Amino acid sequence: MIGRMVRMRVRRQDGPDQSSRWEDFEVPYRQGMNVITCLQDIQKKPVTRDGKTVPPVAWECSCLEEVCGSCTMVINGKPRQSCSALVDQLTEPIRLEPMSKFPLIRDLIVDRSRMFEALKRVRAWVPIDGTHDLGPGPRFSPEKQQVYYQLQRCMTCGCCLEVCPQVTTGNNFIGAAAISQVRIFNAHPTGAMHASERIDALTEEGGIQDCGNAQNCVEACPKEIDLVESIADMNRQATRRIIQKMFGG
Ligand code: SF4
Ligand code: SF4
Ligand code: FES
Repeated sequence: MIGRMVRMRVRRQDGPDQSSRWEDFEVPYRQGMNVITCLQDIQKKPVTRDGKTVPPVAWECSCLEEVCGSCTMVINGKPRQSCSALVDQLTEPIRLEPMSKFPLIRDLIVDRSRMFEALKRVRAWVPIDGTHDLGPGPRFSPEKQQVYYQLQRCMTCGCCLEVCPQVTTGNNFIGAAAISQVRIFNAHPTGAMHASERIDALTEEGGIQDCGNAQNCVEACPKEIDLVESIADMNRQATRRIIQKMFGG
């Protein structure tokens, strides 16, 4: 007797300039399985529901515990991590698509460089040259630690860009994740020394001023980062910086 099967529909595309197509698969159900488990089963036996052998589906994953963000894809219409998407909680057939706001590489793999470039644009780090021992770092109060720990959980997964109406494949809007990272580094006692540089970068073309405040990003963030507050905070800092510059700062 054949046990329960899980039905999957995967949007396939062999490369960036190729056309896309849907393919249907079935994999044996096991308790507790997630979308990555299903993809691994398809990889072992890449045969569609109608019996055609096809090239194995390409996807990415690494940590398998919703920390790295690499397995992000659109599952039943919602961008999320496939390693934490449990089959028992999904309607079948489970539809898998690549995120649409990033250049496609193959099948479910996209190029998220846009996000990492955005972090470089706003200098999302504390500059230390490492030539001498700086001693212990400055202390954060427990209240601040709680706020900034939440912000630091960002895994550059791309969900916030995928749902943002201001992000398109043809523009360079920086997106909520990088805006939120500026909030962390500008609040850091050492990082604050370069706060103005970060705000200047954040207000260049494609910067925070392009945010339409639709707030889709905060709904989509799997780490429940308060992106709306980050955007509001950075807008306040940007306004102060404009005034400061008017007076020659
Ligand atoms: S508030 Fe809206 S426009 Fe601004 S980053 Fe979030 S989703 Fe995009
Ligand atoms: S802010 Fe949230 S949704 Fe955006 S990249 Fe970071 S973890 Fe993902
Ligand atoms: S594999 Fe790292 S978030 Fe899913």
